[in-house]
Amino acid sequence: MAYDSLSSFVERLDREGELLRIREPAQVDLEIAAAADVESKTKGGGKALLFEKPVDAAGVPYAFPVLINGYGSAKRMGLALGREDVGEIGAEVEALVRAKPPAGVAEAWKLLRQGLELRHARPVSVGRGACQEVIHRVEDGGRGLAEIPVLKTWPKDGGPFLTLPQVITEDPETKERNVGMYRIQVLGPWEAALHWQLHKVGARHGKKYREMGKPMPVAVALGGDPANAFAATAPLPDGIDEYMFAGFLRKKSVTFVPAVSQPIEVPADADFILEGTVDPTGEGVDEGPFGDHTGFYTPVDKYPRFRVTAITHRKKAIYPATVVGKPPMEDFWLGSASVRILLPVLKMNFPELVDLALPAEGVFHNMVFVSLKKQYPYQAFKLMHGLWGAGQMMFSKIIVAVDAEVNVHDTSEVLFYLGANIEPQRDMIFIQGPSDSLDHATTLPHCGSHVGIDATRKLKGEGYTRDWPEECRTTPEAAARARELLAVARRMG
Ligand SMILES: Cc1cc2nc3c(=O)[nH]c(=O)nc-3n(C[C@H](O)[C@H](O)[C@H](O)COP(=O)(O)O)c2cc1C
Repeated sequence: MAYDSLSSFVERLDREGELLRIREPAQVDLEIAAAADVESKTKGGGKALLFEKPVDAAGVPYAFPVLINGYGSAKRMGLALGREDVGEIGAEVEALVRAKPPAGVAEAWKLLRQGLELRHARPVSVGRGACQEVIHRVEDGGRGLAEIPVLKTWPKDGGPFLTLPQVITEDPETKERNVGMYRIQVLGPWEAALHWQLHKVGARHGKKYREMGKPMPVAVALGGDPANAFAATAPLPDGIDEYMFAGFLRKKSVTFVPAVSQPIEVPADADFILEGTVDPTGEGVDEGPFGDHTGFYTPVDKYPRFRVTAITHRKKAIYPATVVGKPPMEDFWLGSASVRILLPVLKMNFPELVDLALPAEGVFHNMVFVSLKKQYPYQAFKLMHGLWGAGQMMFSKIIVAVDAEVNVHDTSEVLFYLGANIEPQRDMIFIQGPSDSLDHATTLPHCGSHVGIDATRKLKGEGYTRDWPEECRTTPEAAARARELLAVARRMG
């Protein structure tokens, strides 16, 4: 199901009892983020929060409400993507790539791309867009970004940050579009810093423009169908247009209009659009500090300066935001949905792979739990190397491999087998590789070591000469009788 705006998603959340409206004034400086932090840590992810009266530090109200924690539960993630359960989309992706089994992961992605095109997910250009109902141009003056209730989420943040932006760029040669979710620090009414990290596609496009000495047009969409912002977070390979993927998710093409001040197209249904350029000659600008996904502040670093040339928006726009920090947070649900949707593509290349989870405690890349059907010695290590070679999985610091029957979504169960099944010297491998830009633990930025831990039962061929013991399990009859006895006892009080 497609939403024609963020407000229709909000209405749906309301009807489903998934929305808490906060009618009291709340400050964009820390207060809204602190409330979302508390709510996202309640069981199952709490409710989505709509702050109807965001105010600045002086108590002056903004014209737009703020939606936060909109994706922050399994149910809301499904609602955002128009399904009862996100797993349904995984099955749809599986059907696409299974149509003609690919020989490798690159071919699997190609198949997915072809499948998306066949599903009429191709973006479509239209004449007019609700995102341009109101237009502010830099040359007309005005308050620019100060009109938008951008949040400061942690006390030592360098300023307010847009935290759910869809950053739209194009490859200057191939004209291929990319949409990435990269936070944006507001530096002034018409100036901001774009935090696309070294390994991301936006950074690759930026480098090409710099080498060509050409100013880079950039557009940032906020809101619209929640499938659009989710697609911007998904670890799709370079070359698959995230808006085509969004079209597949929402079963309806994303529509586009030309931006008003830059040679780039923008999604017609967005709530806000920021248009501007990145200067190819600039050294970059100080960005940060920022209280990050990791639960720590990321220090100041240089990132591209974004000069805003126009801001357009719906008359009744809603500003979408999130807060990142110590888990569990809303971003856990976004990451988990990506895993569930894209796992079939990984499985095409790793037939032994059964399931994979990024536990909330691991904040995306710190920890990966993977289960496999082991058929030959050292297959768990083979799988780990394959995962480290697969796109953003390269950042995984700790990969724990367990047998097929272990539930990787149950951290306690994985930790049990991790403790029980490993002989540390035999079952751990260390490799060197690229590290996530946010990782403060590596000695050097962007590179470090990664560990793979094989917590599967060991085969004779792996040097284990003893007989692997059997696990203690009662009989199904005894288990059924036990449940009956306990239920009766509970009923009797
Ligand atoms: C809430 C949220 C905020 C994010 N912020 C950033 C960011 O500031 N910089 C960045 O490079 N990646 C950030 N990411 C991760 C990227 O969105 C993700 O890696 C995406 O796949 C990148 O797209 P790309 O491969 O097209 O570059 C964020 C993800 C989420 C869920």
